[in-house]
Order: sequence, then structure tokens, then C-alpha cells
Amino acid sequence: MAGIKLLLCSLVIGLCAHYFYFTETISPEMVKGKRVLVTGSSTGIGEQIAYKFAELGAHVMLTARREKQLQEVAKKCLNFGAASANYMVSDMGNLTSAQIVAEEGIKKLGGLDYLVLNHVGGSGSFGSFQGDMEAVLSSNNVNFLSYIQMTSTALKALRESQGSIVVMSSLSGRIGAPFTTSYCAAKFALEGFYSSLRREFLLNKSNVSVTVAVLGFIDTESAIRKVGDKVTMSASPKEECADEVVKAAVLRTPELFYPFWGIKPFVLLRDWAPTLIGKVLDKFYVLENIQ
Ligand SMILES: *[C@@H]1O[C@H](CO)[C@@H](O)[C@H](O)[C@H]1NC(C)=O
Ligand SMILES: *[C@@H]1O[C@H](CO)[C@@H](O)[C@H](O)[C@H]1NC(C)=O
Ligand SMILES: *[C@@H]1O[C@H](CO)[C@@H](O)[C@H](O)[C@H]1NC(C)=O
Repeated sequence: MAGIKLLLCSLVIGLCAHYFYFTETISPEMVKGKRVLVTGSSTGIGEQIAYKFAELGAHVMLTARREKQLQEVAKKCLNFGAASANYMVSDMGNLTSAQIVAEEGIKKLGGLDYLVLNHVGGSGSFGSFQGDMEAVLSSNNVNFLSYIQMTSTALKALRESQGSIVVMSSLSGRIGAPFTTSYCAAKFALEGFYSSLRREFLLNKSNVSVTVAVLGFIDTESAIRKVGDKVTMSASPKEECADEVVKAAVLRTPELFYPFWGIKPFVLLRDWAPTLIGKVLDKFYVLENIQ
């Protein structure tokens, strides 16, 4: 009985908070001239986040592995109105490379207001866990440790600017999803690290915000290519996703759920009805297309 009251109560509070958040808006004055570093920005959500910051008049520093794509994205950022747009080629599977990109990026930008950690990689594919340690290690490097490396390198600059760290997580960082063991592990690790760091900043009165974006299935090329025929859920648009991420970052919102109704109910019920939630989520997998 108390449980149900608590559930209803938190639902009402959650919906009110959601409503007020949705009616808030951001304006270019809040972002103009800010210095932004976006990882994994040659394509997908990272690319769209860069365009959004560009539209709002920020200085944008891009990084990813593919130079040609980065060149194109930088050009478009300028067309969209970025105060400046540059890029650095990097391989986030290499922690030295991650450190250098953070150092050099901050030097070139002359400081840092937003560190947007978005890249994803590793050698693992979508499929059952077969004991492949190589995939676990490489995923851990790219999807977790490089995030921490960049954060640690950027911390001083972010403290000085009272800046923001923005981290892309996933429903797979809150609820174990099958066929993506290494990816899930990295996302859970990010959730742990950044929720702990956020509390430290609050206690220590370091005015650095941490925004974790808990995302669902987004229609990026790589997501569609990897899992398009393996899941039946519909993909949400990456442009709208990027808009929401940038808004949450600028408003210094601790957590963003996108698409809200596709994510939040599962997260809320995760601890109260794990078996039910598991069964509902299992329905989304097309098992005959998965090895
Ligand atoms: C990692 O990156 C650094 C700096 O770019 C480079 O010197 C080093 O050779 C790279 N290591 C590997 C294993 O690729
Ligand atoms: C924290 O930083 C934000 C953004 O730089 C600023 O708007 C806000 O006033 C700061 N808060 C405090 C308590 O300094
Ligand atoms: C917060 O932590 C930083 C880094 O450890 C330290 O330099 C700073 O003095 C701390 N501030 C407070 C108020 O404890």
C-alpha cells in the first residue's frame, strides 16, 4: 500500500518536473561565444550536437577518427553560425590520444565551457557473449576509460569556466540489455562514475554541471546498420535528440531521458518490477536475426 502511494506520488512529482522542464527554453545569448568540445562528432548524434551549438553561436572543436567527415562537419558548423569551427583527428581507443585531444583542444579554444562526450566504438558486435575478452577490453577503453581520461584532463579548465560535462548514456546504462554486454558494462560504469562525480562537485561547491543523457534507439546510420534488423522498436530522430541534449546541457539539467516516454517508465519501474520490465523489453528483439 505504501509502495503504491510512493509510486503515485513520485509519478506526479516526476510529471510536474517534466512539464516545467519542457516549457523552459534556451536562447542564443546563453551559448554565444562558449567553447565546446564534442567527441565522435563526424557523424550521428555528435554531428547534430555540433550543429546545434554552432547555430547558437558557440566555438566548436570537433574530434573523431575520420578527417574527411570532420572537415565537412566543420564547414557546415561555420555555415550554421559557429563563432569558429575546428577539428582534431583522434582515436579514442588510445588513452594517450584522448588526453592529447583534450589538452590541445582546450589550448586552441582558449579554455572550455562544454565537454560533450559522445563517441562510441570498440571491436564488439551485436550478439551473444562468447567470452571474447578482447571485445570487453576494447569497449571499456573507448566507451568508458577515454571519457574519464578526457574529463580528468579537462577538469581544471571546467572549474575555471564553471563549465559543463555532458555524457551520452543509454537505457542500456540503466537496465541490462541482451547482446550488448560490453557496451552495457561501459554505460553502467559511466553512470556510476558521473553520478558520483556530480555529487562531489555539489558537496565541494565546484560549479561544474554534469548532464547524463539516457538515450533510447536513435536513427543514426551506425545504429540502424548495427541493430536495425535486430530490434522492432522505432528509432527517434537524431536531430531532435541533439536539440534535447544541448538544451539539457545549457540548463545544467542532471539527467535527460530521450525519448522520454520510451525510457522513463522503464527506468522508474526497473527496481519494482524487474521481471515484468525484462519481459516487455525482450519483445523488442528479433531473435532469428541475432547470432
Ligand atoms: C596512441 O597515441 C599516441 C599519441 O597520438 C601515439 O604516439 C601512440 O603510438 C598511440 N598508440 C597506439 C598503440 O596506437
Ligand atoms: C554556476 O555557473 C553558472 C554557469 O557558469 C552560472 O550561471 C551560475 O551563476 C553559477 N552559480 C554559482 C553559485 O556560482
Ligand atoms: C574541491 O576540489 C578541488 C580539487 O580537488 C580542490 O582544489 C578544491 O579546493 C575543493 N574545493 C572545496 C571548497 O573543497
